Amino acid sequence: MKKKLLITRTIAEPVLEQARTLFDVTLVNKPLSVDDCAAALGEYDLILPTLGDDFIAAAFERAGPNPRCGILGNFGVGYSHIDADAAAAHGVAVSNTPDVLTDATADIGMTLILATARRAGEGERMLRAGQWGGFGPKVGLGLHVTGKVLGIVGMGRIGQAVARRGHFGFEMPVIYFNRSQKAVDFPARQVEDLRQLMREADFIVITVPGGAANARLVDRAALAAMKPTGILVNIARGEVVDEEALIDALEDGRIAGAGLDVYEHEPHVPERLRALENCTLLPHLGSATVETRQAMAQMALDNIIAFAEGREPPQKVN
Ligand code: DGY
Repeated sequence: MKKKLLITRTIAEPVLEQARTLFDVTLVNKPLSVDDCAAALGEYDLILPTLGDDFIAAAFERAGPNPRCGILGNFGVGYSHIDADAAAAHGVAVSNTPDVLTDATADIGMTLILATARRAGEGERMLRAGQWGGFGPKVGLGLHVTGKVLGIVGMGRIGQAVARRGHFGFEMPVIYFNRSQKAVDFPARQVEDLRQLMREADFIVITVPGGAANARLVDRAALAAMKPTGILVNIARGEVVDEEALIDALEDGRIAGAGLDVYEHEPHVPERLRALENCTLLPHLGSATVETRQAMAQMALDNIIAFAEGREPPQKVN
């Protein structure tokens, strides 16, 4: 008999087809609450979840000591929506999808730097509203990007990919904050503390993982250290930045702008943030290219197949 696989969101068709040939697939296409997660752990042998599904410790507690499910093959590199330690304690393996989304996510980082500095969203809104009065020497002035200091918070795979784009493509001097020592193979200077980076950089791009360890890493005091011409870009997880403090800084014009792809309580985006012109707001598009999302789906399924065949899932994280 085929093993039961729960897929919590629609994925690329060829990967879904492959899954259907191997497993008895149920596709729900909606975020799972903690109770849904607990029930799913008891009902399915294998689960392919993603961001928005709440596999927190309580879900595992409610599912009991030996749940039927043996693996959460997460779709996504970030897995702060899964308590991987609680999963391990209940005998559930967790895997993720690193590397395949690095370039797409770094590209969104650059999109947000450029769109925010050059006021692209604001300009487009004005034009579409029929309010563009034509070219003028002082119309739509933004901030220059080339040659400005790029500050990377978290020099992992995605941080390095953004830094390379800034250094090689835009001649930007790169500085970075990383909790541990991190050497990179292109010119970049590691700074001792986050405040120093916030003070020195013109563009700050956050690429650290989400979860408790980095919650509110960029707090009110860190934001207060930014230059008045500084722009903050978050392509990591919303909880890494104190969202209210960021909105205050944007409303008061204490920083020039923000480019955000992630939010504290997705898909909720505060009305105060949506009302501001000096920020670019994207709906978590980091990895959203056809090629990348297919590669992520394939990697998530390959981990599940490995587990089902009794092999170690290649991207196991717990
Ligand atoms: C990731 O892979 O972490 C993306 O942010 C989607 O969850």
